[in-house]
Parts: sequence; C-alpha cells; structure tokens
Amino acid sequence: MKLLTLTAAAAGALWICTPAAAQSPPLDQVNALEGLFGQHKGFRRSGAKGVCASGHFVGNTVGRNLSSARVFNGDKVPAVLRFSIGGGSPKASDKGRSVRGLSFQFTGPGGEVWQSANISAPVFFVAKPEQFAPFLQARTPDPATGKPDAARLKAFNEANPETLRQAAYLAKAPVPASYGSVNYWSTNAFVATNAKGEKTTLRWQFEPVAGTLGLSDEQLKTMPDDFLADELRRRVAAAPVVFDLKFQIAEAGDPVDDPTQVWPESRRLVPVGQLFVTQVEPGAGGACEGITFNPTALPKGLEASSDPVLRARAAPYAVSLGRRLSEAPR
Ligand code: HEM
Repeated sequence: MKLLTLTAAAAGALWICTPAAAQSPPLDQVNALEGLFGQHKGFRRSGAKGVCASGHFVGNTVGRNLSSARVFNGDKVPAVLRFSIGGGSPKASDKGRSVRGLSFQFTGPGGEVWQSANISAPVFFVAKPEQFAPFLQARTPDPATGKPDAARLKAFNEANPETLRQAAYLAKAPVPASYGSVNYWSTNAFVATNAKGEKTTLRWQFEPVAGTLGLSDEQLKTMPDDFLADELRRRVAAAPVVFDLKFQIAEAGDPVDDPTQVWPESRRLVPVGQLFVTQVEPGAGGACEGITFNPTALPKGLEASSDPVLRARAAPYAVSLGRRLSEAPR
C-alpha cells in the first residue's frame, strides 16, 4: 500500500513537471532559433557559420590594477578562438548585415578559464531574456504565406522598441571587409575585483590594431557569399592579427543591466591587453567546436554583473551544445 502511494505521488510529480519543462526559457530560446533559422544538425543554433582559430592574450598593468585575474599577469595566455556570422544558418552570407562574432577561451595560469562570445555591435537585441524567443518568433515566416505575420511583428516591435536598436546600428555600419577589421563588444557588463578588493563595473571591446575596414556597396556586389574565413587565413598567414582589449568603465547611474543601451561616450576606455590571432583552421572543425563560450565562465577577479541577459546565457548555450554534439557529424 505504501509503495502504491509513493508511486502515485511520483506519477503526480511527473505530471506536474512535464508542462513546466516544456516552457523552460532556455529550451524556448533554442527552439525559437531553430524555428527561425531551421534545424541544422551538428551546428551551433546561433553563430552557426564560423571558423576556429587560435593565438594568445597578453594582459598589461592597467588590467592587473583592475582585476586580480591571472590572465592579466603579462605572460602569453593561450587562446582558443572562433569567428562567426550571426544567426543560426550555416549558409549565411558573409555579405549580410548581421553581426560578426569573436569568441575566446583564455586559459590562464593554474588552468583558470575565461570564456566569452562578443559581437560586432555595441548593443544586443534584447534587454531581457524573456524577449529573446518572442523576438525571433515574431520574425519567423508563417508556413502558409512564407512571410512573418506583419501584424504580430508590428505589435512586438511597438511594445519592445529597444529591441530595434541593434538593427538600427547594423543598418548604418559598413559590412566588415574582414573578421580582423571590425570591433567586437561584450555588450553585457561585468564586475572586476583587484588584489585590494576594489570593484569596477565595466564592459569590454576588442579593437583591431590595424584599424577597422568595411566594404562599400560597390565592393559588396563583387564579393562571393563566402570570403571571410579564407581572408582571415591569408591575413594571419602573413602576420598575426592583433586586437586591443579595452575596458569601458561604468559610472554611477549607467544602465549596467541592459545590453540594448550604450554607455555615454565620455566613459573611460582603458586598454588592458592585446589578443594575437596567430593561426586559423584550414577547414571546418578544430578546438573551438567542443566549446560553447559560456560568458559566465569567468576567472577569479571577474564576475557577472546583475545583467539578466548575461545570467541567462549559460543554459541555452548548454542546450545548443548538447544538441549539436549529440547529432550526426556534419
Ligand atoms: C538571452 C540571450 C541569449 C541567448 C538565448 C543566446 C543563445 C545562443 C546560443 C544557443 C548559442 C549557440 C551556443 C553553442 O552552440 O555553443 C549562441 C552563440 C553565440 N552568442 Fe548568444 N545568446 C544570447 C545572448 C548573447 C549576447 C548578449 C551576445 C553578445 C554579446 C551573444 C553572442 C553570441 C555569439 C558571438 C555566439 C557564437 C559563439 C561561438 O562562436 O561559438 N549572445 N547564443
């Protein structure tokens, strides 16, 4: 009898759990990516098209003064890197006006790991994680018409105007001529702690030392849909591609919990080290494939801010990693 009661309770618990799991935000987010871009087995559900690379990071004194993370100790820290095109299609055109991505994993002394995925826009498209799936769903074509539902899209945009800021930025920015000629931003805020225990809230950006370069509309017409990976291979074969890593320091009242808002340009921007890209994989695959560049994998001396979008990233990244690694190899 006792056993029966327990079994019934367990069945009840299952019954309660199933609908809740079906509404899990990370699953909804990854399903919404698949809904818009298709299910491409073996590929990342976001940033699907990309190339693995590697190199090293060298931190400087300014970085050391702001953060006790040992990656700033001035030695060469090995870096696994990935450059990508925004969106969940592995066939996305390199000429598209989406974001480009720069993801890194730095492994510092003692094995401390710092992972991050950054984009070529200073703002992200949602202010809150719960906007992520509806934003994509509003843009997903209706199978009957082949187009998104115009009324639904208009209603979403009007109710969530901050989600249009990234597209407005990208519409004005030139399409990058190279993965190595564009700035990449964290958009999310982090908190650094130094050896004295002093805390600084910041965002970061990577700036190519050789400068930024975009393609004109005329040049774009002559370019193929795939050029970025080969261009980076040629560039790196000639000389390392170097990025300055800069911290932008927040001041009181800056929106640290909203990646759709930039901070005032007058905020201090300090170089904390340099990233050297020294090798690009000759084809698909490489060390970056098994990594999900979880931006909350941080070394001691750097921690996540209160930004809810940042805190929501680890779970859907793990869902996407689980799906792509368990699928048939591409
Ligand atoms: C709630 C917010 C977000 C969700 C649900 C989300 C979801 C995802 C997912 C599922 C992946 C694929 C992960 C993998 O398979 O390894 C991914 C990759 C990526 N995400 Fe996000 N993301 C979010 C926020 C952001 C933000 C704020 C940024 C930029 C600053 C960003 C930049 C990237 C980049 C660059 C990649 C490609 C990473 C790579 O090269 O492996 N994401 N995202």
